[in-house]
Amino acid sequence: MLLRHTFLTTLALLAVPTGVLSRKGGDSSSSDSDSDSSSSGGSSGSSDSGDSDDTSSSTTSSSGGNRCSDTHRLDFGDLQPDHYYQYNRAPRRGHPSAYSDWDGVFFKGEANLKYTIITPPNNLTEGDIVSSSLITCPVGKQSMRMLGAAWVGAKAPTPAGPVNPFTLGFKAWESNIRVSDIDYSYSVCENPDLIRLTTTVDWYSGGSVEKAMDAVALNITQAADNRDKILFDGVYDLKDWADSERSSMEPAEYDNSGLWDQMISLPDSLCSEGRRLGKILIGWPTGTHINGSMTNETLELNFSGSTVAGFGRGFTITDTDTKVNVTFELTFTGSFDAANSSQVVLPGASSQNASLISFERATGSATVTSLPLYYVLVSLLVSFGMMVV
Ligand SMILES: *[C@@H]1O[C@H](CO)[C@@H](O)[C@H](O)[C@H]1NC(C)=O
Ligand SMILES: *[C@@H]1O[C@H](CO)[C@@H](O)[C@H](O)[C@H]1NC(C)=O
Ligand SMILES: *[C@@H]1O[C@H](CO)[C@@H](O)[C@H](O)[C@H]1NC(C)=O
Ligand SMILES: *[C@@H]1O[C@H](CO)[C@@H](O)[C@H](O)[C@H]1NC(C)=O
Ligand SMILES: *[C@@H]1O[C@H](CO)[C@@H](O)[C@H](O)[C@H]1NC(C)=O
Ligand SMILES: *[C@@H]1O[C@H](CO)[C@@H](O)[C@H](O)[C@H]1NC(C)=O
Ligand SMILES: *[C@@H]1O[C@H](CO)[C@@H](O)[C@H](O)[C@H]1NC(C)=O
Ligand SMILES: *[C@@H]1O[C@H](CO)[C@@H](O)[C@H](O)[C@H]1NC(C)=O
Repeated sequence: MLLRHTFLTTLALLAVPTGVLSRKGGDSSSSDSDSDSSSSGGSSGSSDSGDSDDTSSSTTSSSGGNRCSDTHRLDFGDLQPDHYYQYNRAPRRGHPSAYSDWDGVFFKGEANLKYTIITPPNNLTEGDIVSSSLITCPVGKQSMRMLGAAWVGAKAPTPAGPVNPFTLGFKAWESNIRVSDIDYSYSVCENPDLIRLTTTVDWYSGGSVEKAMDAVALNITQAADNRDKILFDGVYDLKDWADSERSSMEPAEYDNSGLWDQMISLPDSLCSEGRRLGKILIGWPTGTHINGSMTNETLELNFSGSTVAGFGRGFTITDTDTKVNVTFELTFTGSFDAANSSQVVLPGASSQNASLISFERATGSATVTSLPLYYVLVSLLVSFGMMVV
């Protein structure tokens, strides 16, 4: 009897965390749809709304974010180029409830950006244009700790153009939050992304995707030390689009034929005139070196390059003559996000595909093995209780 009593008490105690778990699950599914609606609405326009917020960033924060409801949930918007949208139906981006062969896999992890800013002499001081020589920026190599998320998916069937067998999308934002808390690290209202890149880009016009191309033609090889790991390597180059008509969304600072939704930028508080000039905007300079490695569980990325960069305050760009030289080097290591990926990636020898990569529908075994220990304990206890009773 005594034993049975203890058994029931233990069960009751176990029920508490189980209840907490399920409530948390309910929460996440409801805010999931919230973040989905905000990100689907925001994915194409996120940069503009964010940039216009930039102009009045102080008023936005002082009003306590009333205009923008922020769940601080990580969202995977902006990782997939627009031409994937027709293949990855809503709710997309790894929600296991939806499946498509182009849904791909997600990785989450920590990034580090090292950069050096040099202010070249420029004696011009006219109107809003600030002489670069009057700006004080941090001297020497700086380092910024970031969190990052990446998506890797199979090449989309249309439009023709891209050759890479996969597309990689990456974004990173400055953060001190632990990687284990990355799901609650994000502030959609503050438009925090400082880095965004997709290896394949598309040209979206008049409501439909017109063409796509590889911004980084990737050389993919199997790693010597691990048959199920690939290495990839390439250089950012939009050469085929250099003379394309520029979208009105693209600020003048993005020389080097950069694209407005693909950028590396530095926070606006770095240099002495930061308030006036805004973020340092860098469209990916032609020649940026991009390499990395991938297994089914880990993605490593390295970006490095240098450019002459301008400043931007969203759409009120008047300071295009103020330039600084920036050298940057980014590293990222991410772990496979099994909870949010509907596929698994098979790289290297495991892909059995000449392109050294293939994607398979996730079997869900990962979810089974990560079942909370409670269930195991409860079932063990139940069988134990059966025996005793
Ligand atoms: C990832 O999955 C978890 C658990 O289902 C969910 O709470 C979270 O919102 C998902 N993250 C994204 C970015 O969709
Ligand atoms: C800035 O970069 C440009 C182009 O690479 C170069 O010509 C110039 O010398 C650099 N200026 C400084 C001060 O490093
Ligand atoms: C800028 O001004 C300094 C001092 O006034 C002068 O020595 C220098 O030659 C000027 N540089 C340019 C590029 O005009
Ligand atoms: C691709 O990478 C391999 C191994 O690093 C190298 O030998 C080869 O020259 C590269 N090919 C191209 C086209 O860059
Ligand atoms: C990325 O850079 C780090 C440090 O520079 C290096 O150790 C690593 O091998 C690089 N990864 C690849 C795939 O080249
Ligand atoms: C990755 O591959 C290894 C070896 O094939 C396998 O044991 C592991 O379960 C795979 N992980 C995932 C997340 O698919
Ligand atoms: C990858 O790039 C990093 C710098 O971005 C460089 O240090 C590293 O040597 C490169 N790795 C390979 C294999 O080219
Ligand atoms: C290999 O992958 C490519 C690109 O994803 C795909 O088009 C092709 O059908 C695959 N081949 C096999 C034999 O699976």
